[in-house]
Amino acid sequence: MDAVFFGLVILQVLTSVLSYPSGAPTSACVDMMPRHGGVQPKPNPAPYTIHPSSTTFQTGKPITVVIKGPDYSGVLLEARSGSDSKAIGTWQTPPTNTKFLACSGNQQGAITHANTNIKNNSTVYTWIPPATAKNVIFKATVAQQRTVFWVDVMSSTLTSSKGGTSLDVYSSAERIATPRIVTLLLFVFLSFCSIHGCFIMIQY
Ligand SMILES: *[C@@H]1O[C@H](CO)[C@@H](O)[C@H](O)[C@H]1NC(C)=O
Ligand SMILES: *[C@@H]1O[C@H](CO)[C@@H](O)[C@H](O)[C@H]1NC(C)=O
Repeated sequence: MDAVFFGLVILQVLTSVLSYPSGAPTSACVDMMPRHGGVQPKPNPAPYTIHPSSTTFQTGKPITVVIKGPDYSGVLLEARSGSDSKAIGTWQTPPTNTKFLACSGNQQGAITHANTNIKNNSTVYTWIPPATAKNVIFKATVAQQRTVFWVDVMSSTLTSSKGGTSLDVYSSAERIATPRIVTLLLFVFLSFCSIHGCFIMIQY
């Protein structure tokens, strides 16, 4: 009995010491909180900032993302829409020492570290926006080491440069504009006719 208890304690200690040297688990997708044996995150502001390559996005057009600050070893990076906790879009080939994490039913829904090797300002992540999203924010958990990490590291908000709303406005404007153009052409044609006579024109 004592041996079993001792074994469990050892296992617990080992698990928490090693934590997640090979990346965050799927269970961290929503709260993005490391379970590092009760170690609390460092208070924000973090020494890290997230730099997307653009302030706007378009469905299917890649956006690159860099986490700037001191060298880091652990990361969990997701794109979100507003305050929704669902990871959106699709990450592309993970940079060295990182890998995909399946989140929100998407095999490429998030990026996490693959090992504890250094990641830095030169580590570039590439993300493909989904078809439906009006605004996007990148959210990360960044760890310098097991006991030193920050959660809720956020980029500024990216807005859709061809969102559903503006598309709707465009097509309704088009619906109004089309009859106007037809009327205008008819008017021009009739004016031409009243001056030159269209039956003569047709005869030629
Ligand atoms: C990484 O970026 C941070 C913040 O921009 C900067 O302070 C730091 O000097 C950079 N490190 C390197 C090695 O370029
Ligand atoms: C980032 O780390 C890589 C690999 O350790 C190194 O080659 C590169 O020079 C570093 N870049 C910066 C900006 O620190």
